Parts: sequence; structure tokens; C-alpha cells
Amino acid sequence: MKSSLKIDLNDQISTIDNRIYGSFIEQLGRAVYTGIYQPNHFSADKDGFRTDVIDAINKLNVPIIRYPGGNFLSQYRWEDGIGPKNQRPTRLDIAWRELETNQFGLHEFMAWSKKVHAVPNLAVNLGTRGIQEAADLVEYCNFPKGTYLSDLRRTYGAEAPFNIKTWCLGNEMDGPWEIGTKNANEYAHLANETAKAMKRVDDSIELVACGSSSMDNPTFGNWEETVLEECYDNIDYLSLHRYYGYYNDDSPKELDNFLGKNVDLDQFINGVVAMCDAVKARKRSSKSINLSFDEWNVWYHSNDADAKITPWQVGSHLLEDIYNFEDALLIGSLLITLLKNSNRVKIACLAQLVNVIAPIMTKENGDVWLQSIFYPFMQVSNYGQGIALTPHVKVESYKSREFDSVPYLDTIATFDKNSRIITIFAENKNQNDIMDFDIQVDDFNFKRIVQATQFFGYNPKQDNRNGEMRLKQLTDIKINASEISVTLQPLSWNMIQIQIIS
Ligand code: AHR
Repeated sequence: MKSSLKIDLNDQISTIDNRIYGSFIEQLGRAVYTGIYQPNHFSADKDGFRTDVIDAINKLNVPIIRYPGGNFLSQYRWEDGIGPKNQRPTRLDIAWRELETNQFGLHEFMAWSKKVHAVPNLAVNLGTRGIQEAADLVEYCNFPKGTYLSDLRRTYGAEAPFNIKTWCLGNEMDGPWEIGTKNANEYAHLANETAKAMKRVDDSIELVACGSSSMDNPTFGNWEETVLEECYDNIDYLSLHRYYGYYNDDSPKELDNFLGKNVDLDQFINGVVAMCDAVKARKRSSKSINLSFDEWNVWYHSNDADAKITPWQVGSHLLEDIYNFEDALLIGSLLITLLKNSNRVKIACLAQLVNVIAPIMTKENGDVWLQSIFYPFMQVSNYGQGIALTPHVKVESYKSREFDSVPYLDTIATFDKNSRIITIFAENKNQNDIMDFDIQVDDFNFKRIVQATQFFGYNPKQDNRNGEMRLKQLTDIKINASEISVTLQPLSWNMIQIQIIS
């Protein structure tokens, strides 16, 4: 099979906001306890943070991390997680039916996020709480000093304000599973009033309102329009959440359909952008609402095991999906789709980061191990920098059970102006055939190949518990002044970096 990519450096989608390579830590399962925080672990630093986990996260180059939930958020009292640890209450986490000891809270999260070079995306509880608690939290975090709450923060060791810029107004408030779920009108009103109060405390913050927690929810569409109508002037982003897997009657043999699920992601994003812009037009506003895709991933492997977990434990093995090679391929396609929509998706959070539906896993009395999905994410977050370029692609498509047209090749190029390096991500979804892939850059000549790697050769159902998976050199590649020809293996994720002559 043949395919080609034509790159025009002037045909740009957008400068990439690096925050699309964000992630998420929820106080859930072993994300925090025995994940990022484990004072008795052999690698723990003086704060109790696992340094083996910090090292793995630093390889992922995650610039922003959403915290503390998730469903956990909608029943959380942020005040439980501050002050002397021996005075913090143990509570029932009624979202996940675990015990929460609160040994890890706001100050610990702030100290830890510095060590992984990320800024926080902090969420306020709009399930069981409301305007006052949210405004109090902004005051506690961002007000310099001289008030009860800002001075309390200083007493607890943070003299300088945290200056948290990005905040989420609740979590999945449309979901019937959520504690304190709301209908669209109730949420829209509460979110708007909370937004007003939070911005009165600190008008430099930016706010993310809840969109639908899935495109499959029956309220999708009406929810977005209702929230946008009421909150438009006081919010900056609308959120989207989407998880993929083999659900309901899906046969695990339908790999062609599974690998096409990024078509659904694209449709979801375009639908929400259309709704944002329809409300913008109705309001005759000059302001655009951008998107925060603040939960996305594959999630289905752990569902049966989760149903058997005994409740009311600390750090139980919840949502510990073990990812296989086909999941890594889908993650690659989803990342390319986010880049293709980087003109409107400005924040995105891979859900989640450690142990809970995560690229990084820990053994309680052992080391870290990396899941299959770690590899495409690591490459895109490190090398997908600069400008996303419109991909002009020629390739055949196939039809699958859910999708009429899935291109056999997913590809996009990004361009870093300073280094003059173009990075091409390319995934061959063909299960049997190699693909001859030609790349041309209009009006520029190639200088050299910086690096070329491929991720392939694994059974789609193979996972990385044995640590065998790795990126391999892509050697079947020919370069002349104006064209590169590459052989893409069947079912492969590839990255090619080339420098052009200025
Ligand atoms: O990421 C796991 C869960 O998925 C989150 O707690 C919730 O927001 C979503 O349903």
C-alpha cells in the first residue's frame, strides 16, 4: 500500500499549547498511596515522594496535572488535606468507597508537582459543596497574606502564594454516578456563580466548566449549550471526557474498529467546537471558548476486577488497567487527533498518570514499570513541539463496524522554528501490509534525519509486564534533497525527525 504526506510550512493548524500533554492524578486507588507517595519506599525522598516515579514522570514531560479528581472531587473537603498530618481526619471516600487518610493533600501536591516540573490544574467540588468553599480555596492558594485563609497557608509552610492559574469547576456534573450530580440548568447556574466569586478573589485565574462526561450521555448537546449560555463570560474553557475500549457487544477481535476510534474523538471535538461557536455567534461575542479535554484514555481492562474489590481500604488496586500493544496504537492515533485540533484544544489530560488507568505502574515493594501506552505519549509530548502543520495526506481508507471511513494511515507533522526540525508521527493501521510512505516539504530541502524510530512487532494483545517493549530504530528510510521514503511496518507507530535547510 502507498501513502504520502505533503508538508507546507505555511499551512499551519496552530502553535501547539504544550498543556495538551497534561495528565491527571486523582486521590483514587494507588495513584497517590503507593503510587506517587509512599514514605516507606526505598526510593522515597524526605517528603515521602517516590523518586523512581518522579524520574519516570519526568521522561513523559507532562506540563500540567489535574488534581484531586475525578469522581473523588465531588465529595472532597479540601480543608481535610492541610495542616499537621497527625491531625488530619480519615474519611470515607464515598465516590470510590475507599478510606482517605488525607496524608497527601494540597501542600503535598504543590511540592510534588514542582518535582515533576508540572503546574496544577486544580478542581473545586461542586457536587456536595459550592461557591463559598471554592472562593475560600482560591483565597487560601492565591491571596498573598493578611487574611485568615492566606495566613493559614503561611502557617502551614507556604509563605508565597501558590498562584494556581487553571481551575476546574467541578467534575462530570452531568453523570448520574457523580455525587451531587446536577441537571444542566442547576450546574450552569452554580458554575457561573462560583466562577464569578473565584474571579473576584483572583481575576488572573482561568476556569474550565464541565462539558459532557461522554458524547454518549443523553444530555450531550443540550448540556453544552445550557452551560455555555449561562457561563460564557466567566469561563475560559469547556471540558470533554472520553474513554475507549471494547464495551458491551464489541468483539475483542474487532481491531480494525478499535483502531478507528480516533474518528469518534475527532467528531466529538468538532461537535463541541461547533456548539461553542454557535453560542458565541448568538451572543455576538468576540471571545472564543476553547476546549480542555481533561480526561481521555483507554479504560476497560480492569472493570471486572474492580467489581470484586473489598471496599473501605486505603489505596486499593482500583482501575489498574494493563495496557497492550493495540492500546498503544490507539493512544498514538488519539494524540495525532488532539494535534489536528490544537487550534481549539488547548489543555488535555491523559487520565491518569500512575497506577490508575496509567502509563506508569508501581510495585509496592519494588520498582516502577512502564506500560505500552507510555511510549507514544512520551514521544509526542517530548517531540510534538512548536507548530502543528496541516497534514495533506493521500492514503486509502477502510470501513469498520462503527466507522464509514478510517484512513489506514494517521499522520501529522510538527515544526520547531528554532531548530528547523520537523517531527512526523505516522501510524500504519493496516494489519497485514507494509506501507510505502513518501514525505515532501514544499519549497524546502532536507538536511539530515535527526532520528527515526518505530514501535511494532508485538502481538496486539501483548502487554509490557515483562518489560520487553521498546522503540526500535527505523532503518528502512531513504532521503534525497526533497523527498523521504519510509517503509512503515503493519500495525506500527513511527516517529521521524528531519532537519531542513533554512
Ligand atoms: O479517571 C477515572 C474516572 O473517570 C474519574 O474519576 C471520573 O471523572 C471519570 O468518570
